[in-house]
Amino acid sequence: MRSEAFQKCIDPSCGLEYPVTDIRIECDRGHLLDIKYTSKPSSSLKETFYKRRNHSNNIFNESGVWRFRELLNFCQIDTENIDECSKYLVSLDGAEGRLSKPYHMSKVSDYVGVQNMWLQPEGYNPSGSFKDNGMATAVTHAKLVNIKKIICASTGNTSASAAMYAANENMECDVYIPAGEVAPGKLSQAFQFGSQVIEIKGNFDDALSASLKRAGEADGYTVNSVNPFRIEGQKTIVFRALESRDWDAPDWIVYPGGALGNTSSCGKSLMELYEWGWIKKIPRIAVVNSEGANTLHTLYNGKFEESKLRWNKGKPDTDLIKRYYEFMDANGIRPKTKATAIQIAKPANILKGIRALEFTDGVVTQVSDSEMLDGMALVGLNGFDCEMASGAVPAGIKKLIHEGIIKKDDTVIGILTGRQKDSSIPVDYHKNSQNKFANPPRS
Ligand code: F0G
Repeated sequence: MRSEAFQKCIDPSCGLEYPVTDIRIECDRGHLLDIKYTSKPSSSLKETFYKRRNHSNNIFNESGVWRFRELLNFCQIDTENIDECSKYLVSLDGAEGRLSKPYHMSKVSDYVGVQNMWLQPEGYNPSGSFKDNGMATAVTHAKLVNIKKIICASTGNTSASAAMYAANENMECDVYIPAGEVAPGKLSQAFQFGSQVIEIKGNFDDALSASLKRAGEADGYTVNSVNPFRIEGQKTIVFRALESRDWDAPDWIVYPGGALGNTSSCGKSLMELYEWGWIKKIPRIAVVNSEGANTLHTLYNGKFEESKLRWNKGKPDTDLIKRYYEFMDANGIRPKTKATAIQIAKPANILKGIRALEFTDGVVTQVSDSEMLDGMALVGLNGFDCEMASGAVPAGIKKLIHEGIIKKDDTVIGILTGRQKDSSIPVDYHKNSQNKFANPPRS
């Protein structure tokens, strides 16, 4: 009999399957994997999830990730049995996802021109970014398969989150980072949490290649978003957003785009919820690239060879992606943005990303560094904190409204992916009175 959870290749013409206990980030033919469940969760669980918010000191009810554990039960445990939960599930004392839900930020709404808009500050996670949602689940899987050391590449937030959970679980952690391209607050977390930092000359894409190579040679356990168990935890970002609306789907969900793990997990959660009949409408995903790291925007919108990259029901033109990567390499095109979190040229989850965009009739746009800084500053004026890459969300919504793609009476949820970990960015912004929302000091 097949188990209730298993891994499955995302390519419909391949479809290879593996048990959850296999440690792999791709199938034997090199395609990414999904976690699949054979059971269909009853929508009466909505009430259970809601009740768990009154958590009675049960950290797995307190956690904004594990509160939804029936929808990501890859450990196949009795989810009501606290001893089983404690034995298997990794949590930073219930802190992940606890504070993140959509908030109305009136000044951002007024500026971008849509009132039915809520922003969800995933930076209010224990390590300061959305990564904790997926890291709690990836490290749970690592623990399930008896891993003692995890490994990742990072623009800073992944490494902070991985190092934090590793420290808490007594695991070792190696983090590969692009030297000189990581915000000081993120780098300091990797050091503080006791991980081994390995500096790579080059950018994030180079660091990811180096860490995947190392993991391949040494049977390492990778916790980047190519790990399908990461994607499972990140689905809860969408669950929390929907739960706050009594599971009434918004018109749009908006993310900054980097390696496209978030886009992938948003798509997977919506596919599952729709299939189970938990939502009647499919929200459209909008991904916002930085102009300086805009591979998805370029390929999705046909800016290279005029061909638009699409999932195409499981038959994407992967040669187009290859040709574009070769073109970038041949012409020395390197990603360059002050928003280093999303300074990524080769999004590792691009195929899952375009699958999500196809399922949701999604769109991709791009914004400049100064637009992201304005977005970040505006979030601050509502008393919330986010980093520059997250500023891409209000900036992108504004642009899409201007272009008539998002309508003024649409309902929009934007995900603010991380907290500010480079204080020099807002300080420099506010000291320069030329900036739109500058708050310069007086002498
Ligand atoms: N926003 C922030 C704050 C991030 O740290 C990242 C990615 C993204 C957005 C992009 O998300 O990859 O799911 O599209 N940071 C990774 C890291 C790459 O290493 O911390 P994505």
